[in-house]
Amino acid sequence: MGLVGRSNVGKSSLLNALLGRPGIARISATPGKTRALNVFKLPSFYLVDLPGYGYAKADKKSRTEIQAMLGGYLRSRSSIAGIVWLLDIRHQPSPEDEQAFARFAEQQHPILAVLTKADKLALGARAKRSRELARMLGLEVQVTSSRTGLGVAELAASILQLIQERT
Ligand code: GTP
Ligand code: MG
Repeated sequence: MGLVGRSNVGKSSLLNALLGRPGIARISATPGKTRALNVFKLPSFYLVDLPGYGYAKADKKSRTEIQAMLGGYLRSRSSIAGIVWLLDIRHQPSPEDEQAFARFAEQQHPILAVLTKADKLALGARAKRSRELARMLGLEVQVTSSRTGLGVAELAASILQLIQERT
């Protein structure tokens, strides 16, 4: 399972929350923190922390490298049970998000769409945004917060279910 999303969306934080091990994947206030593809081995599958796409300040070379890394990962199709696709609950999907979505579809990877940083919104706004984004994406979305742990156990269950279905 690969965690994919734009830079700073909270991939590394969510991976730490899923593993219940703060500090295992590197987090930073500076976007562009994750530069390599980091693989975490679990008993029956791997979780992969990928570099984020769409970091505005990245130079052209590192943008190209990140796109190539993501593309290479997505094409290693037989070994991928699915993609955990992260979107910030507060933001509209960016052109890079749409591009990434098209690439998952192209490779026919199952997608678990996850909204991150739900703690940044009040309850009402959270429900409204998750409905809007689900409709916009045409996908079910899972609402999470790595900060409060909201939705993390549910996401772990969805991941395990997908792994079971695929193996
Ligand atoms: P790159 O590796 O640069 O692509 O970023 P990333 O997607 O791995 O994001 P990362 O986990 O490093 O988090 C980016 C910033 O968002 C950090 O400052 C985190 O503390 C913050 N953050 C992550 N998850 C949450 C969350 O659930 N709630 C809040 N409030 N902040 C979060
Ligand atoms: Mg990261």
